[in-house]
Amino acid sequence: MLSSNSRSFFLAALLLTGALPTTAQKTKPLDAAAIEQRITGLLQQMTLEEKVGQLNQYSGREVTGPASNRKTDLLNSIRSGQVGSMLNVKGVQDTRAIQAEALKSRLKIPLLFSLDVIHGYQTVFPIPLGEAASWDLAAIRESAHVAAREAAASGIHWTFAPMVDIGRDPRWGRVMEGAGEDTYLGAQIARARVLGFQGEKLGGTDAIMACAKHFAAYGAALAGRDYNVVDMSEQQLWEVYLPPFKAAADAGVATFMNSFNTLNGVPATGSSYLQRDILKGQWNYPGFVVSDWGSIAEMVPWGYARDKADAAQKALAAGSDMDMESDAYHTTLAQLVKSGQSDEKQLDDAVRRILRKKFELGLFEDPYKFSDLKREKKVLNDPQHRVAARDAARKSIVLLENRNNTLPLAQPRSIAVIGPLAKAKRDLAGSWIVLADTTQITSLHDGLSKRAGKNTQIRYAKGCEVEGSSRAGFAAAVETAKTADVVVLAVGETWDMSGEAKSRTDIRLPGVQEELFQALKATGKPIVVVLMAGRPLIFNTIADQADAVLYGWFPGSEGGTALADVLFGDYNPGGKLPSTFPRNMGQIPLNYQQYNTGRPVTKPGDIRYKSAYIDAPNTPRYAFGHGLSYTTFKYDALKIDKASLAAGQSAQVQLTVTNTGKVAGEEVVQLYLRDLVASVARPLKELKDFQKISLRPGETKTVTFTLTPDKLAFYNRQLQWAAEPGEFQLMLGSASDDIRLESRLTLLP
Ligand code: NOJ
Repeated sequence: MLSSNSRSFFLAALLLTGALPTTAQKTKPLDAAAIEQRITGLLQQMTLEEKVGQLNQYSGREVTGPASNRKTDLLNSIRSGQVGSMLNVKGVQDTRAIQAEALKSRLKIPLLFSLDVIHGYQTVFPIPLGEAASWDLAAIRESAHVAAREAAASGIHWTFAPMVDIGRDPRWGRVMEGAGEDTYLGAQIARARVLGFQGEKLGGTDAIMACAKHFAAYGAALAGRDYNVVDMSEQQLWEVYLPPFKAAADAGVATFMNSFNTLNGVPATGSSYLQRDILKGQWNYPGFVVSDWGSIAEMVPWGYARDKADAAQKALAAGSDMDMESDAYHTTLAQLVKSGQSDEKQLDDAVRRILRKKFELGLFEDPYKFSDLKREKKVLNDPQHRVAARDAARKSIVLLENRNNTLPLAQPRSIAVIGPLAKAKRDLAGSWIVLADTTQITSLHDGLSKRAGKNTQIRYAKGCEVEGSSRAGFAAAVETAKTADVVVLAVGETWDMSGEAKSRTDIRLPGVQEELFQALKATGKPIVVVLMAGRPLIFNTIADQADAVLYGWFPGSEGGTALADVLFGDYNPGGKLPSTFPRNMGQIPLNYQQYNTGRPVTKPGDIRYKSAYIDAPNTPRYAFGHGLSYTTFKYDALKIDKASLAAGQSAQVQLTVTNTGKVAGEEVVQLYLRDLVASVARPLKELKDFQKISLRPGETKTVTFTLTPDKLAFYNRQLQWAAEPGEFQLMLGSASDDIRLESRLTLLP
């Protein structure tokens, strides 16, 4: 629960106004037809101002954007039915108090309480990009479920997650919030997260509404600078950026959020192409669209609207149903409708979409359904949530290097735990945390100390800060390293170097951290580097010289325990990169879906008049899908049940995978395709399927993929999703640059 001093003045004033309300009378949930009928009845009773009221969303605190200079008296607006939803109000006490005010309004329509529950509410899970590295859809779904359970017990009805933007530019700070660069993986994860937050159906008290954001193409912000323009081809939009949104819609996501960027000149918030033609038209989406924070009003500085009224008119016409914090609908929409500049039918449609969700959540039957003090206490203290967080964290860790099998650690007598992130707690939570008590986060040092036991001494030195140029701590760090059998060096970014409005032009490991590594390396001790960050970083010296490298992202509440599990080999890492790691910044944006070009480099170094750089190879430092294990896997016996497919037919692809090492392990078997000749040039590889399997030492499993006609299709020049007859290259491997088995198949005309 919020401490009283972190509450806004608005909330504090409200709580002084009276005792907490009692729970309303409970009635049976309504079916879909009854809901539509009730909405029709309400619409008939609502004044224009009350209708507009449902479209207004305000923040209890200014936390994720500049204040909107709103003149609105919030409390009176809530009491008079002028507010449909609040964000940034949390906890049973506060949500109950504010809901009670809404129920004083003439029609007693309950408020929706929304919040950015991005990777956990109280229990912090790894950042979404980290979770994506697990390629474990069940664990990802469970993580969203736990977050929903905690939030729903604390008065929240709606999270602004998942962010399903494809992120291909690591300079963009928000890559931490997504599922990486790949559309197929991104779509699978979008679905898992939506189902995790919402369950199969809204209405339960352990599920909240999800929100697919940011519609659309926000991840392609030019030069990785947040809120920037996006200019892209229709092919790219449909093929790369829209499918995760479609997957979320198909999974029943209750809401969409539009976005800050322009798309080919039009702010997404004002784009009827995106919101009316595609989302509500072609996809027949029944949920509602909320604007991003202030994005309706931001159409004015974009130079797309003259003033707030013009922006409100354009946003509603384009299909933005709810106005987050612009105060534009509230102040102008009723007048726009009266003067005929805005269409009352479009207003009614927006109101209907919002009311429908309030009914589906069951708020009309019991507006305090999510605000139960006893449940809040019980759920927020559920120890199982930390267990789930540890599971997710272990699965998200990627083993990038392991020279001479340095890992797992073989019971060393002493470990020197060094680095600015060795004892860090807050950083391990990453950006976007809600209620977490960051003192309760397990640091790497805590995790190792707890696991090491009596026979292993843990020694610590900080060495340097994440940023800055001071080398004053190097000498002590080197001395500490000299006394130990092995060094575990924890370096990376601080939690607030990624996230919203945290774009960077330089994604090399900050400060003097690589210099510290070199100083430690000179001791001759084995050095295991644990990197923690919210994006792919560049760290070539470490990549070349460290004995082992783990990428831990920001691993959450149980991060230190999970890292200790992996370092000691209690858990064999199986994470695979969901994003390409470039060698240098000039390669950005770089992703695995490269094209052959007319002048491919066919032999390393043969670059004269080839599509290449003269100062660096085209290849990344670490490829999409890369991730090592403490064991090895052999791929074998590839079979396709038919080498030629008639249109509409599916093929079965089968292979065996054997654990050829000494310990049990998990492998993500990845299936890539290339359409060799097509009406539009196709990438050299596209991920089309994957399976995560676990194998005991010596065990062999048969893995079967079904290659449906859909997997061969792409958006052709007419923007039709279609498979073209011809030959396809089929590749199965352990990473996009580690293909183990290949074959061909033909799609017949
Ligand atoms: C702005 C962010 O872009 C969005 O993702 C977030 O949900 C809202 N602020 C609300 O905090």
